[in-house]
Formats: sequence, C-alpha cells, structure tokens
Amino acid sequence: MKTKIYAHRGASRYAPENTMPAFQLAYEMKADGIETDVQLTKDGVPVLIHDENVRRTTNGTGFVEDYTLEEIKQLDAGSWFSSKYAGTSIVTLEELLQWAKPKQLLLNIELKNNVIEYKKLEQKVYQLLFTYDLLDRTVISSFNPKSIEKFKKIDRNVNIAFLTSTKIRRLANFTKLLGASGIHIKYRILSTHLVGECQKHGLDLRVYTVNRPAQIVRCYKLGCTAIFTDVPDIAVKLLLHNQSVEKVTRKFPFRRR
Ligand code: G3P
Ligand code: MG
Repeated sequence: MKTKIYAHRGASRYAPENTMPAFQLAYEMKADGIETDVQLTKDGVPVLIHDENVRRTTNGTGFVEDYTLEEIKQLDAGSWFSSKYAGTSIVTLEELLQWAKPKQLLLNIELKNNVIEYKKLEQKVYQLLFTYDLLDRTVISSFNPKSIEKFKKIDRNVNIAFLTSTKIRRLANFTKLLGASGIHIKYRILSTHLVGECQKHGLDLRVYTVNRPAQIVRCYKLGCTAIFTDVPDIAVKLLLHNQSVEKVTRKFPFRRR
C-alpha cells in the first residue's frame, strides 16, 4: 500500500499552521490528508490550534481555555507567520469538517489533551465527526492513553492511534492493549524493528514530522502507513514522480526547522 501523506497542521511550511490557508494549500498540493490539533474554548467549542496558549501563533496572550469562541475568533492567527496572512482567524473543527466534507481528504484529528484535561473533548469531537459522517476517513490520535480509552468507550470501532515521541518498551503490545489501531511516532524512533512489530500486530504506523527528502523516502521504503509533513508538495513529488532525493533537494533547498 502506498504511504499516505498528511499535511502536518496543513501545509505549515508555507502558510500559518492550522489555518484555512494552510489546509487549502495542502489540498492544492494533493496531500492525501490533513493533520490538525484540537483544543476547547472556554465555552466548550473545539478549535484548531497546536499550543494550549495562544501566544506563539496569534496576536493574543493567555490560554485557549480562557477564551470564548467569539473572543478567540477576534485574534489574528496569520500575522506572526507573514503579513500576507494578516487577519486570518482561528478555525473551529466544525469549519474544517464542512470544508473537507466534499473533498477526498483523509483527516487526523489530534486531541491536545495531554497538558489540559479538556472536559468532554472526546464526546464533542466524536459528535461532530458523526454529524458530518466523516468517521470513515478520520483517524483520531492522542498522546494521552486515558483519552484513547474514553474514545473507545464512545465507539469501539473508531480508528484511533496512540501518539508517542519517546521509545516505549513493547510499544506495539501496549498499543494493542489500549485498543488503538495505530501508532503515531516521532521520526527519530522509527526503526525496522518497530515496522515489523506493527505489521505483526496489524497496527498502522504513521510518522511525524517528516520533512527532509531522505527521511521521507526512508518512510516510503519501510512501508509506513503514512507520514505527517510540513511540505506535502515535496512528499507528493517524491512519491508520485519517483524523483530522486537529489533532484528534489536541488529544487526545494531544504531548511531545517
Ligand atoms: O500528530 C502528529 C504530530 O502533530 C504530533 O506532534 O506536537 O506536532 O502536534 P505535534
Ligand atoms: Mg499535531
């Protein structure tokens, strides 16, 4: 099976992460899917933002959980990236689902509940995916094992993955016990052994954040289920046109992030 390409926070190398311009660009670049991070506002609305605090990616200060939807929508989530994106606002999960619904896009909704325990985040996300009939092409993920268990209780058939940035002993066994159907790992812990373990246990293996052409190609060769990348254009080129790493690197001089 072809390795799927998820745009990490949208095409976040080229547009402000987790905003509509980044999602739109990922779609135009022919990514297979979109990865995004969800947190809850003070009034309980799922919104797409990576950090618990709005400071890094908006012109505001303070925590997402202290803003109502109306207040958080006033923030500028584009200027920090470039003046070209001034006035871009934070997106709700529902807005993303409405936009994605008519498109053939996969979704990865990452629940950002490993720092703040957002009340009913799992139920709210599930309800929206159910309402928009998008559960079939969505994988939920979380660093928080408790959240995975909660989600499985809502719907045991949901496609859910355990996220980890560190090496865990018997990771595949642990993931199976949790009831997850896949593992999302940081690139640095990718190994042929883990690929084999996942195959043995029937688990999907998706890898983040894979931006360097040589790393992208390694994931393809190992047969990873998917990669999360800030540069979906490069990943698509390497996969579809079978371009060499050297050729792509010449065209897109790589910057470390
Ligand atoms: O979901 C993969 C990846 O996004 C997890 O890490 O910090 O980029 O959300 P982070
Ligand atoms: Mg994420």
